[in-house]
This record gives sequence, structure tokens and C-alpha cells, in this order.
Amino acid sequence: MTIALLGTGLLGRAIAERLQSIGHSVTVYNRTASKTRPLQDCGIAVATRPEQAIAQADCVILMLADAAAIRAVLLTPSSLAVLRGKTVIQMGTIAQEESLTLQAEIEQVGGLYCEAPVLGSLTEAKAGTLFVMVGGTEDQFSQWLPLFRALSREPRLVGPVGKAAILKLALNQLIAAEISAFALSLGLVQRAGIPVDTFMAILRESALFAPTFEKKLPRLLTRDYQHPNFSTHHLMKDVELFLKEAAGYGLITSTVEGIRPVLEQTIALGLGEADYASIYETVNPKT
Ligand SMILES: NC(=O)c1ccc[n+]([C@@H]2O[C@H](COP(=O)([O-])OP(=O)(O)OC[C@H]3O[C@@H](n4cnc5c(N)ncnc54)[C@H](OP(=O)(O)O)[C@@H]3O)[C@@H](O)[C@H]2O)c1
Repeated sequence: MTIALLGTGLLGRAIAERLQSIGHSVTVYNRTASKTRPLQDCGIAVATRPEQAIAQADCVILMLADAAAIRAVLLTPSSLAVLRGKTVIQMGTIAQEESLTLQAEIEQVGGLYCEAPVLGSLTEAKAGTLFVMVGGTEDQFSQWLPLFRALSREPRLVGPVGKAAILKLALNQLIAAEISAFALSLGLVQRAGIPVDTFMAILRESALFAPTFEKKLPRLLTRDYQHPNFSTHHLMKDVELFLKEAAGYGLITSTVEGIRPVLEQTIALGLGEADYASIYETVNPKT
């Protein structure tokens, strides 16, 4: 399969490497060209313009930050001019409404569109063990199943375009809720001088445990948030998207609203590009 992948940030780069490693022909485009150099070194083709990558591809994967980035890269006259007959598979985290608008604009120029947001991060992308949630038709799901299977053990068709976007936000709300709850409890344990090992031993054996606690613990204990898997900026974006989506369905969102200022303060500390575990600096500032 010949794939154009637009956006080689943290996850885009890992997905490009995975697809290339299992034999697909991948051409990438990234706004900041220097970020594509490691991919070029492992034999992945690099386009200097999005339309160059799109023109030669069977499908176009979007792994861009948000709807504004998608607009800047894909919804330009030069990219739209080469979209006829191409399928765009949107894999970033955006809102239902944004996904539906994108679908309409792509279909207007004769392109095809489905969404396939993912849960999991760099390790899972490289191993092909992401959770891939597809929003589209059954035919599209069958047509692109080999691609989805390259990234996921069990890709799932969620429903029409928009439904997978909502499901992804429902899952990401849990990332925000779990890290903020864990950071707060760990902060109390540390400040009260209770051994962290005792706290973790009980937590691990209890029904309260979530594997993400174990995964993030070393970062919180060392306060080292470099080499992020997922940035504070993107978690903030997803909290905002979730709040809008949930409010639209008449849900009471006060719990998530409480996490918003914590993320804002963390970003104000200069930790927007750091791993989102850095909210610990806001929850439990260094004394
Ligand atoms: N990282 C994860 O674990 C993970 C997991 C699941 C879903 N996601 C979602 O996947 C998407 C990508 O995540 P990521 O972690 O790879 O993000 P990232 O490292 O911040 O990469 C973002 C990408 O978008 C591009 N971009 C941003 N603004 C742009 C603009 N105005 N014009 C053109 N290009 C622009 C960046 O280009 P430059 O390099 O030029 O800045 C980069 O290629 C996000 O929606 C995120 O929420 C991430």
C-alpha cells in the first residue's frame, strides 16, 4: 500500500516507522522539515509539500495536532486539488463536528473520508498494538482493514463518521481524570511522609488501580517530564473538546472543569510541551 502520512510529530513519526517496517510504502510530510530527518534516515520518503505526498498515495493518514493544523495542511487549494479519488483517514484527536466538517470539505472535491482516532502512544504505535476506533462505513472499514490491522490487534468500527471521534474523547477524559486523581493522592502520601511503596502496594492490589498509575509513577517521583509520550498541550486540547462535546449532550461536566485550571497552570509553568504527567508540578509544587 502507498501511504501519505501528514504530520510527523510524536505519534506520526512512530506510526510512519511502524507502517514502513511492515512493508508499506510511506511518504511523509511535516511542516517543520527537520523533524522528518530521522525518518529519511530509515528509508522513508519525505515530501516537501503535502500535495506531493498525497498525489502518489492510495490513502492519506492525518496525524496532525488539531483541526487548525489539518486546515493548514490539507484544506488548501493545492492539497484539495489532488484529493479526488483519495481516501483521507484522520487519526488525530478532534471533535465530532470538526470531523464532519472535514468530511464534507473533502467529499466536495471528490475525495473520501473516514476517521480512525487511536488510543495508546509511541510504544503501542511501534508495536502495532494501538486501539484503533473507526468512524466510517462498513465498506471503508473492510477496505482499509489491512492498514488498521498494521496498527492494532483488533480495530473496531464504532459507527459513522463522528462517533469514533466522540469515543476517543470519552477515553481521553479518563486520562485527565486518572492522572489528576493519582497526582493528588501521591502528593498527599509524599507530604505526609508515608512510604510510597506502601501506598503503591495497596493500590496495586486494589480495585482502584489503573495501569497508567504505575506507568507515570517514575516521572512523578523524579519530576522528569522530558521526552513526552503525550503533551500537556494536547491533553488540554482534549479536555476542552470533551467539555464542549459533553455539554452538547446535556451532561454535567464540573469534575472535568476542575482539571482545566490545573492544566492551564502547568502550561503557564512552561510545561506545555512536556509529558502531561507534569501536572504534578501544579498539584504538588516543589517546596
Ligand atoms: N502522542 C500520543 O500519544 C497521542 C495518542 C493518541 C492521539 N494523539 C493525538 O494525535 C495528534 C498528534 O499527536 P502528537 O502527540 O503526535 O502531536 P505533536 O507531537 O504535537 O505533533 C503535531 C503535528 O501537527 C503539526 N502541526 C501542528 N500545528 C500545525 C500547523 N498549524 N500547521 C501545520 N502542521 C501543524 C506538527 O508539525 P510541526 O512538527 O511542524 O510542529 C506535528 O507534525 C493529536 O491530535 C493528539 O491529540 C496523540
